[in-house]
Formats: sequence, C-alpha cells, structure tokens
Amino acid sequence: MTQLSTAPVATDAPGPTGRLRALLAISGNPMDYFTGLRDQYGPVVHIPVGFRDFYLISDPEEIHEVLVTSHRNFSKATMSAGRGKWAAPLSVVFGNGLTTSDGEFHRKQRRLIQPMFHHERIAGYGRAFAEISDDIQSGWKDGDRLDMSVEMTELTLAVVARTLFDVSLDSDVARTIRTAMPRHEGPLRWDSLPFARYLSMLPLAGNKRFFEGRERLEAIVYQLMAERRQGDGQGADLLSLLLAARDADTGEPMDDRQVHDEAITLLMAGHETTANALAWSYHLLGNHPEARERMHEEIDEVLGDRLPTIEDVPRLAWTDAVLTEAMRLYPPIMGMARRPLADFELRGHRIPKDSFVAILPWVTHRDPELWPQPELFAPQRWLKTPRPADAADALTGHAVAPGRPRLAYLPFGAGPRQCIGNTFSQTEGVMALATVGRHWEFEPVPGFQVNPLARITIRPEHGLPVTARRRRGA
Ligand code: HEM
Repeated sequence: MTQLSTAPVATDAPGPTGRLRALLAISGNPMDYFTGLRDQYGPVVHIPVGFRDFYLISDPEEIHEVLVTSHRNFSKATMSAGRGKWAAPLSVVFGNGLTTSDGEFHRKQRRLIQPMFHHERIAGYGRAFAEISDDIQSGWKDGDRLDMSVEMTELTLAVVARTLFDVSLDSDVARTIRTAMPRHEGPLRWDSLPFARYLSMLPLAGNKRFFEGRERLEAIVYQLMAERRQGDGQGADLLSLLLAARDADTGEPMDDRQVHDEAITLLMAGHETTANALAWSYHLLGNHPEARERMHEEIDEVLGDRLPTIEDVPRLAWTDAVLTEAMRLYPPIMGMARRPLADFELRGHRIPKDSFVAILPWVTHRDPELWPQPELFAPQRWLKTPRPADAADALTGHAVAPGRPRLAYLPFGAGPRQCIGNTFSQTEGVMALATVGRHWEFEPVPGFQVNPLARITIRPEHGLPVTARRRRGA
C-alpha cells in the first residue's frame, strides 16, 4: 500500500552505486542508461548522482501516485532539491509562467489559462495549422535535401507566432522570435547537466547571445502587449486572451510581467516539442515504407486535393496513430521531475524529502510488460477501428484495448501539471502530416546516423536530413 510516512519503516529502493559514474552516464546517453537500470532493478530505482539522489519511477501505478493522486506531496521546484542545487532553472527563460510556477499560484494561473485551450478554441486554430503547413511545403522542390528538424521547427514556430501573437513568419516580430534565443546555447543547453547554473554564468559567447536574445524578445512581447491594449480588445490570439483574462474569484487581471512570462512560456513550450514529434515521425516513416504508404493512401482518400480542416482529423486515424507511436518511441519532452515535500513511501520504498523523482516516458514506453515488441514502430497499436486485414496482427489495437493502464503512455505527463497544449499539438501534428503528405515523401539519407539527444527535449542530435520527393501524381 502507498502511504505518506514520516517513520523510516520502508526500505531504500535498489539501484547502482557510484555517484560519479552515474553523473557521467547521465551526461552521455541518459535514456539507454535509465532504461538499463529499470530492466536491472525494477520500477523504483535509487540512483545516487553527484550530490543528489535520483529516484526513477517507471511503473504506471506509481507514476499515477506521484503525478495525480498525491501530487500535492510533490513540488516541481526541483532545482532547490539536495545540497548541490545543480539544475539551471528553466525559469531563466520561462520566468514564473505556467511550466515553472508552483503551488497555489500555479493553480490560479492554470484556471485562468485553461479555457484558451478548450476544443472550440483549438478548432479556431485549425485553419492556421493547415495554411502554414501548406506555405512551408510550397517552398520545396523535388530532390531538395532538407533537414526536417529545421523545417518542422519553422512550421511549428510559424504556428505559435500566428496563434499566440497573430503575426506571420516573415514579419519582423517573427524574425526576432526565430533568432532571439539560440535554442541550443546558454542555459537551455545545460539544464539537465550538473552545475548548469554556474555554467550559464560564464562569460561565453553563447551565453552572451542567449541573454541578449532574451532581452530582445522581452522588448517585443511588451511592444505587442501595448499594441493589443490600443486595439478593440477583441483579438482572438492567445496574447489578447491573456490580457483579457480575469481571475474567477477576484476579477483581477494578470500584471504585465505575468502576461509576459505566460506568453514566453507558451511560445517556447509550444513549438520545439511539436517540431520534435514531427521530425521523429518523418524519421520513422522514412524507415517504414509500408506505414508511409498507408498514411498517403489515407490522406488521398480523406482529402483528395484539398487542405485538411479540423473535421477531417477523426478520419485521419492512421496519420494520428503515426504521430502517437512516434511520441511513444521518441517522447519530445525527456521527462517529469518532482521534489517530495516530505518523506514518501512508494511500493515499500522510502523516497526521501527533497530528493529528485524522475519519470521518463522513454523508459515506461519501452517496458516489454506494457508494450509487446517495444522497439518496433507499429502505428497499428493505436487503431480503434482497424481494417479486417489488420486482425491477424496481434499488435493491432493493443494500446487502446480496455483495461490498459492509462499511464503506460504519457508523452504529455499527467495530473494537474499535464501539458496544457496536448490537444493543440496533436491536432497541429496530424494536420501538418496530412497537409505535407498530400504532395511529399521523404527518403532518408543513406549512411546518416540519426541519434536522439536527450536534454530537456529529445531531438535528433545532428538534425534529420532527408531528400524530398514529390509524390507521383501529386
Ligand atoms: C508534442 C508536443 C508537446 C509535448 C510532448 C509536450 C509535453 C509536455 C509535458 C510532458 C508537460 C508536463 C511537464 C511536467 O509535468 O513536469 C508539459 C507541460 C506544459 N506544456 Fe507541453 N508539450 C507539447 C506541446 C505543447 C504546446 C503546443 C503548448 C502550448 C501551446 C504547450 C504548453 C505547455 C505548458 C504551458 C505546460 C505547463 C503546464 C502546467 O504545468 O500547468 N505544450 N508539456
């Protein structure tokens, strides 16, 4: 039984020894390291790392306990855990926005912002998802060598620029947004590494560019806020909605700093994630021609010659399954980190106050007890209404069968801190795949090794080069 406990009745969880060894392993290829530890030690593993004590939790039941049932016993403020204080606060970038705030303040903000992500709102963005994807693909030529990581980042950045700020990708504002914060420089590069806080204080060129970019971006957001205030207050973009939002109890608006932090949070959290999901989808489709063919058949059948609308999404079941399965194998966010506010007991093991609890979808998504043939890319796992010919495949519908543990799959997290943009990004992703797939298929570049790099997000380390081929008849 799981219970809150202050008495040391529970045992320590099993796990490896060697704080330095763990530190090096995590700095190298953390996902293989963590998956190996789960295989060796089970669903709760104690990993002493540097000055910290990590607890890797990988079973859906215990994950549910931490993220949902007992979420109030945990904080997201993990950088203040342990003696080392060695994670660079993401708040350097996100301020006190939704991803980084905590406790009662977070609950109040979440209540305020949640309505902006209701289904009707997302339906309103459907046109932007399709039009922007169509714009991006219209610049490609048959035989072009493309980096799909870059292309998909352009696409998803254009989508947030339009939905959040109502600006197009070729505007000055969007250009600043695109170039302002070099993504892989400064604190974001180091967040999951030891002593990141200190590394980001060094007078390095990358750090300098990063902090200058942050200032430019801040100025732009304040300028856009001032413009919105001079308008009629009826704008449908997210920034207008943030400015118009009022607390249900007090009727108070957010102050300017808070609107800024929430806008930057949505901008940053809302594009690289979906870009990764799409890039990984193309990586997998490139290596599974039968899955790609089936997706193209579906797109041709559902759309013919036209752009997708939001109403088409439920009929694009295979395309949706491709994206969903890509996020199983390559979850775009590395994981959820929590700090226990008091000693906690999980499966008879003591999880000490102020330790670092890590929940890594990559590890849970590869558990062979939850996922038959876990390494296999098999979109058919997700089919609710398969074709008769699919019946012979035992994997068909497996992931959506009744009685499955809900948190066997959690690329968007779970509980009160679950991703607020999950429906937004799933809809955007399916519509982007469908729009692009009307005309294009992509060949992998022979001999190019695609490696996942896990640093907050999981992205292809050196990009995803492909050759674009215009589909026959398209
Ligand atoms: C494939 C795309 C995406 C993935 C995989 C993803 C993943 C996640 C995950 C795992 C969390 C939970 C972190 C935790 O519990 O510690 C999260 C939170 C969040 N995401 Fe996403 N996300 C995606 C797209 C988006 C988009 C499109 C937006 C906004 C437009 C967004 C905004 C946020 C925000 C604001 C939070 C913090 C929510 C809170 O704590 O209340 N995300 N995301």
